Amino acid sequence: MSKIPAHIIDDIMQTSRIEEVIGEFVNLKRAGSNLKGLSPFTDEKTPSFVVSPAKQIFKCFSTSKGGSVVTFLMEKEHFSYPEALRWLADRYGIQIPEDEPTTAEEIAAITERESLYIINEFAKEHFLNNLQNSDEGKAIALSYFEERGFRKDIIQKFQLGYCLNSGNDFTTVALAKGYKLEYLEKVGLVKTKEERHFDFFRGRVIFPIHSVSGRVLGFGGRTLITDKKVAKYFNSPESIIYNKSEILYGLHFAKGDIVKYDNCFLCEGYTDVISMYQAGIQNVVSSSGTSLTKDQIKLIRRYTQNITILFDGDPAGIKASFRGIDLILEEGMNVKVVLFPEGEDPDSFSKKSSSTELDDYIKSSTQDFISFKTAILLKDSNNDPIKRAELIREIVHSVALIPDQITRSVYLQQIAVKFDISEQIISNELIKLRKNVIAKQLQEPEIREIPVEKQVESYQQIEKLDTHEISLHDEFNLIRLMVKYGTRVVQTEQLGEDGKSMVVETSVIELIFHELDKDELTFSHPLYSKVYSLFAEGLAEKQLLSTQYLKRLEDQEIVKFVSDIESNDYELSTKWLSNYNIETRTEGDRLNEAIKNSILGFKSFKIETKIREIRLKLEDVENLTDTEMMELLAEQMVYERIKIVFADKLGRIILR
Ligand code: CTP
Ligand code: MN
Repeated sequence: MSKIPAHIIDDIMQTSRIEEVIGEFVNLKRAGSNLKGLSPFTDEKTPSFVVSPAKQIFKCFSTSKGGSVVTFLMEKEHFSYPEALRWLADRYGIQIPEDEPTTAEEIAAITERESLYIINEFAKEHFLNNLQNSDEGKAIALSYFEERGFRKDIIQKFQLGYCLNSGNDFTTVALAKGYKLEYLEKVGLVKTKEERHFDFFRGRVIFPIHSVSGRVLGFGGRTLITDKKVAKYFNSPESIIYNKSEILYGLHFAKGDIVKYDNCFLCEGYTDVISMYQAGIQNVVSSSGTSLTKDQIKLIRRYTQNITILFDGDPAGIKASFRGIDLILEEGMNVKVVLFPEGEDPDSFSKKSSSTELDDYIKSSTQDFISFKTAILLKDSNNDPIKRAELIREIVHSVALIPDQITRSVYLQQIAVKFDISEQIISNELIKLRKNVIAKQLQEPEIREIPVEKQVESYQQIEKLDTHEISLHDEFNLIRLMVKYGTRVVQTEQLGEDGKSMVVETSVIELIFHELDKDELTFSHPLYSKVYSLFAEGLAEKQLLSTQYLKRLEDQEIVKFVSDIESNDYELSTKWLSNYNIETRTEGDRLNEAIKNSILGFKSFKIETKIREIRLKLEDVENLTDTEMMELLAEQMVYERIKIVFADKLGRIILR
């Protein structure tokens, strides 16, 4: 794949809006000049994920991830740098000039993950083309979809396709294109038996399964044969890009409306999603036959707290549904249920009815989970008192899973009224069951990501740090000023050749660079050193690197570093201003002072380290000759003097 030209990267970065892109993954709400939402990187319940439209950065305070829109896509979608840029270019209609189509060698060079995505994308296009343009596809598959009542625009939207029945049509084309057999097998598109390769999905209509951002992760393939011995669906196997338990079919198309209506409809199959969508109910996803998982629920929670499960009217499925309900409750979300008439699923029902009828049916049949469970269990109980007691316990058990106490007590009252039992009795049962729930949760503690980075937060912590880390603190301060205020102009007083002092204007980057350069001082921390050399290289080309520039670099370590510096700024200023309503004199206002102190800190630490080294040597009296000792003492004197000179010179930066 060809390299993206720098001016195109600039164009992409200038056109992209981080708030729009992240808004596709996270439900963001205004919070002052920023936007806030639940972190997409953890399963937190209180929002600590902040997006700054002004700075075009994000910061996740629970994982300490942060950076630009590109960083976000790389973290969230596991894109590479060029992939993230290409995704953005696509999203914002920016053309990237491509000189060559991908060759086999080039493909081999890209990572496996990327290859699997590319193959899936290729397969999707191939299947889609079969459906729309091949004689077999049109005659068998397209007509099948049409018979089922799928509209043309919907078939296109969901990118439905067809895999020819020949046996190895796709395999042949894919291998000829240069895609590795190994990868084709990994994504499950090609199977090999006795050294013969064939299409896994041959003769099936294809439902591509998309990630939240619309990449093809895998496929479902439905047979067109009505033979009970043939599996109705084949699905892509799990791979590094396809993890069934973390994917919901249709979420890519549904997410907007899920946020809009603050509710997510959950159904069982591919066709249910598509038919509901066609009928105008577009906040709908499917767990694709597998029983609902925690991860899938968490995926929904990024967009809404409310799930409405749509059940087919078959009794076996209903019992299995109880587990799903409990899982949703356990995640602290609200769950409602719609039961379709016996023998109908959302797909068949929506085909029989008009959009308004479907809408009305859903509205009038939506039940809360207690009514739903009660109705189902009551059918079996035949007024048998023991069964009735079991039923109540079963329902209280579900309530006990709800993390929020107030919500629990609301349901408790509802149960008391419904079954005409005293609240006290139910409450006792609830307390008992709740204890079990908590005990169980303690046994299986959830694995949480702990931010690995060490942050200096308190004095106790500082005390524990060794001198090396203290010096890093000085280094950090200095590089931070370069990043944050680098292009600003400050005034310094310098001695001219005639011995008279004069005021010189210089940028912060130049000032700091010259101060360190003349004493041949460098950064010891690898990241700071990397950033510092960028500034130095920029200066060599008469350029002052802005944060804007730094945030566009491929090196995400730098991007994250720069945006972290920017987002800390945000924290401080809003806290102060809102909590105390005080106008603070910001660091920017007393920039000269800040720079002076930082350079001084930086330099004197370097000097003091030297002096300390000498003192250590001097302590080793027994092993030192007299001359050695004299030399060391002289050296020490020199450094002590330099220390004073530093301070003196720095004193000449004008404070304004
Ligand atoms: N499923 C599967 N493998 C099967 C059967 C079902 O993976 N052998 C999954 C599919 O994701 C399917 C869902 O379970 O969409 C629901 O199954 P089912 O209700 O049997 O299929 P429908 O989606 O209703 O398909 P259709 O309407 O075409 O019968
Ligand atoms: Mn169906």
